Amino acid sequence: MVGNARYLPLIDTVDLARPGVILEVGTHNAHRSCEMIDRALEFRPASEIQYHGFDFWEHLTRDMMAEQFKLKPKGKAKHSTALKRIRQRGVAFYLHGGDSRATLPQHAPKHIDIAFIDGGHEVETIRSDYRALAHARWIVFDDCYLQPHVYGDFGALRIIQEEKLDAEFVGHFRHVDLGDTCMAIVRGGG
Ligand SMILES: C[S@@+](CC[C@H](N)C(=O)[O-])C[C@H]1O[C@@H](n2cnc3c(N)ncnc32)[C@H](O)[C@@H]1O
Repeated sequence: MVGNARYLPLIDTVDLARPGVILEVGTHNAHRSCEMIDRALEFRPASEIQYHGFDFWEHLTRDMMAEQFKLKPKGKAKHSTALKRIRQRGVAFYLHGGDSRATLPQHAPKHIDIAFIDGGHEVETIRSDYRALAHARWIVFDDCYLQPHVYGDFGALRIIQEEKLDAEFVGHFRHVDLGDTCMAIVRGGG
């Protein structure tokens, strides 16, 4: 079951990808991770599914929190909570704690069926995350802020434009502070 209807297009993309390898930047407490894994389990046995999750978790310092969360405060994620939830699914999983700008280039697998980019919201972070994941078969960007005064610095829209990605914009909603926002789905290079 999908907890938040706004994420239905993400689950629709899992249906298209029928993934063996799922990657998420910004696993947080693994709510979305488990929704993606549960959907993938409708197409494949657990033995054929791998989940790769990236988040700061316990590596987050106060200074980093101030820098990375100035746009959208979010409760500090717990590695143990993510671990417990994902372990129950019976799939292989790898959780990488730290700044995705460093961990993704080191640990992103060569083959990725679906990558969900939902970590840091600064353009520089999303650019770095995207470049480490451009080879994924499907890429879903959360947080495409559509207001010109926002997307210069925050959100995925600038990267989609700069990289000339052929994106489908879905799941529109109005963020209370940041205005019109949506997700973007890209059929990637892999
Ligand atoms: C919006 S939350 C993700 C929510 C989750 N994907 C879901 O739908 O349930 C963003 C997460 O990204 C993490 N994050 C932000 N910047 C990051 C960075 N540079 N490296 C790693 N994780 C980061 C935060 O710790 C936070 O848990």
